[in-house]
Amino acid sequence: LRSATRLHHQRVDEIYSAAQMGEVRSYGLFLLAQAAAHIPVERALERGGVGELVPDWKNRSRREALAADLLALGLQSPLPLEDPLYEGTEALLGALYVIEGSRLGGTLLKRSVPSTFPTRFLGNVDSSAWQALLAQLDDQLDTESKRATAIAAAQNVFALFEASGRRYLGSGYSAV
Ligand code: HEM
Repeated sequence: LRSATRLHHQRVDEIYSAAQMGEVRSYGLFLLAQAAAHIPVERALERGGVGELVPDWKNRSRREALAADLLALGLQSPLPLEDPLYEGTEALLGALYVIEGSRLGGTLLKRSVPSTFPTRFLGNVDSSAWQALLAQLDDQLDTESKRATAIAAAQNVFALFEASGRRYLGSGYSAV
């Protein structure tokens, strides 16, 4: 999964790095970009039954934290760009990998966010939860065809983040 999405990660990294995390307006756009992808992906995971796949899903879910951060900045949760669909264990695991992995970069980014800004969404990496997910991926994605299904879902999630990142953080917006 990691190697199959390396270029996808590089693209979202570049797009989201355009945000000026110390500047409240730009930070708000960063959260909007995250939310327009993150919230519909979480909803799709739940519709697909992620709760049965990972018993600690309730602790992993971050969309309420994200909505609360937006509210604290006086922003509404954005309309979803798309309504994705992840069905079956393999697709769910692939999508979950991206959503959970995105915490890792969040920790790094959080360091540039002033302590007066709302940061319920960013960071909060629980390394044992991440390790447990990686072990589960290893265990359950045990054939080429299962891995291919997981990779397709992971790439779909990255594509959603890329599209919403471009929408909110692309040059048209940041120039305002
Ligand atoms: C400016 C934005 C971003 C930065 C600076 C960033 C940075 C990082 C860093 C440093 C890691 C490695 C952490 C470690 O190995 O301990 C990482 C991992 C990861 N990030 Fe990002 N990231 C960003 C955005 C995103 C986004 C938007 C997503 C997906 C929605 C994402 C998905 C992932 C995934 C899935 C991993 C795990 C890779 C693996 O080890 O298998 N990242 N990121």
